[in-house]
Amino acid sequence: PTVAVLAGGLSHERDVSLRSGRRLSVALREQGLTVEEWDTDASLLSRLRNNRPDAAVVALHGGEGENGSVQTVLEMLDVPFVGTSSRGCRRAWDKPIAKALVAGADFATPEWVVLPHSTFRELGAQGVLDSMVERLGLPLILKPDQGGSALGAQVVRDAAELPAAMVGCFAYGDTVLAERFIDGVEVAVTVVERDGGPRALPAVEIVPESGVYDYTARYTAGLTDFFAPARLADDAAKAVGELAVSAHQLLGLRDISRTDAIVASDGTVYFLEVNSSPGLTETSTVPMAMETAGTSLGEVFTDLVSRAML
Ligand code: DAL
Ligand code: MG
Repeated sequence: PTVAVLAGGLSHERDVSLRSGRRLSVALREQGLTVEEWDTDASLLSRLRNNRPDAAVVALHGGEGENGSVQTVLEMLDVPFVGTSSRGCRRAWDKPIAKALVAGADFATPEWVVLPHSTFRELGAQGVLDSMVERLGLPLILKPDQGGSALGAQVVRDAAELPAAMVGCFAYGDTVLAERFIDGVEVAVTVVERDGGPRALPAVEIVPESGVYDYTARYTAGLTDFFAPARLADDAAKAVGELAVSAHQLLGLRDISRTDAIVASDGTVYFLEVNSSPGLTETSTVPMAMETAGTSLGEVFTDLVSRAML
């Protein structure tokens, strides 16, 4: 069978996706699969019609690759694919929706405020920013409500930095998500569906040298220390695993996901977001978690490809 690895795309995370797609393709070939690497653009629909693969793997990040658009195309053409359905992608891609669904099941998530650009026109910028600081305190985090790889995300420590930080966020979209800053251990928890149900792999702890896990700290080797498994007490390790499996199920995700969370010093586990198409690059936590669990990217995805084709 031929497997098409869909990567690239047109989002801000194109370069990351090309790295994920490359690594995944090499890993699948090592397992003996026949892999075509597809750089994904507007020709996808006709390409799938004319050169239909037996299965596709979505290794796209951001934009149409993660908001459900590409998945809708695959569903319309009935091409089996590894990864979450269009519906699950839409939910996970929208951070406030994901937070609300997970909070609704009684998990903690940092208190938040959603700021569509239009509220600034109606209410005046200073009033909006003042009430946000009053509610969330400082420091706080600003991020585009839809986005990935920390692009546009900023930690704001001083109210004077807010206007510039807001502009930085609005460069990526028309709505900003502001969150209370939680001090603690940052972890990423991969969930894989194998052998009859979603299971959490060991959490990976993230310690960026600069203190902030931004785009550069994510994708430059050596700028972040990773501990796999995370240096957590047993009950915290169990709690982050349960959170990740619950988030996967609550949002209707399929095959694989990665939940990002913070374990605060009082032991509370805070949900940050869940990624339906997590990075698979050399510096990404998903392949590290697989290796810590005694398996590999190639093994897991070969299994997921077989499941997709059933
Ligand atoms: N959005 C990037 C690829 C990640 O979550 O890993
Ligand atoms: Mg993300």
